[in-house]
Amino acid sequence: MRIAITGASGQLGGALAATLADGHDLILLGHDQIELGDPRVADQIAVTDADLVIHPAAYTNVDGCARDPERAYRVNALGTKYVAMACRRLDAPLVYISTNEIFAGDASRPYLEYDSAAPINTYGRSKWAGEQAVRELLRDFYIVRVAWLYGGERNFVRTVLRMAARPPAGGLLMVDDEVGSPTYGVDVAEGVARLIATGCYGTYHLVNSGACSRYAFCREILRQAGHADVPVAPIRLADYRRDSTPPPYTPLANIAAADLGVALRPWQEALAAYLATLA
Ligand SMILES: NC(=O)c1ccc[n+]([C@@H]2O[C@H](COP(=O)([O-])OP(=O)(O)OC[C@H]3O[C@@H](n4cnc5c(N)ncnc54)[C@H](OP(=O)(O)O)[C@@H]3O)[C@@H](O)[C@H]2O)c1
Repeated sequence: MRIAITGASGQLGGALAATLADGHDLILLGHDQIELGDPRVADQIAVTDADLVIHPAAYTNVDGCARDPERAYRVNALGTKYVAMACRRLDAPLVYISTNEIFAGDASRPYLEYDSAAPINTYGRSKWAGEQAVRELLRDFYIVRVAWLYGGERNFVRTVLRMAARPPAGGLLMVDDEVGSPTYGVDVAEGVARLIATGCYGTYHLVNSGACSRYAFCREILRQAGHADVPVAPIRLADYRRDSTPPPYTPLANIAAADLGVALRPWQEALAAYLATLA
């Protein structure tokens, strides 16, 4: 299959390119080739002659989105609309990568694929608008929600390891009342590869199974990396000042993809696999 991938040099885009390189003809569209905020991106994608478009590119700086909502909407909402318009012209299905942050985070159980979206910050609203554009313009699409990704050059795991190498006086401070699904990008990429082979369009949650707080995630990273002695203290989300407000509780339940035989391993196992690549 001829597959175009946006954000190909990003964390997930890179993992998708590596996973799909075997057996597919890839067109890698990095930020140096396309600008999602420019309507002409639709023409650029339409001329690729792709059979399928995968769209992980986004303005992912959640605090930056809070400071610059117009940029967030231009890139994440309008940009996704242009990508969907290109798919219409190509008559090709689209895989749109979305986020746990489309949910409010006030549930008492993990979010199912069909729970109602109610984003509470600009990033989440812009990504939800991207989902809406896909649903309005296309018949053939996969919307794949992921969460708490790691695997690229800059991510939470690497930040914790860097801090552990030189712990600040008093130890690390980690939020204990933000809960989510830590997820290895390589596992998502493999899940997407298996999902597109099914031809079963729809909305999916592809995350490593299980959930934890940022504090528990940090403790597990330190434990597995042999730094269990580094002190970590729990703090409240309300005490961690930042421009964006994350939804506090957004574990994602995978029902729809699991029914097709696509489910990702527990987050602790995925973390171990990632740490092994850094060793
Ligand atoms: N990271 C997470 O924890 C997380 C959680 C839930 C959902 N997601 C979703 O998963 C997807 C992939 O995330 P990621 O962590 O792989 O993101 P990432 O590493 O930040 O990669 C995003 C890619 O998009 C490109 N990009 C940004 N703005 C662009 C623009 N205006 N035009 C064209 N390309 C642009 C970036 O290029 P430059 O770097 O050169 O700007 C980068 O290559 C995103 O859709 C995100 O919303 C991520």
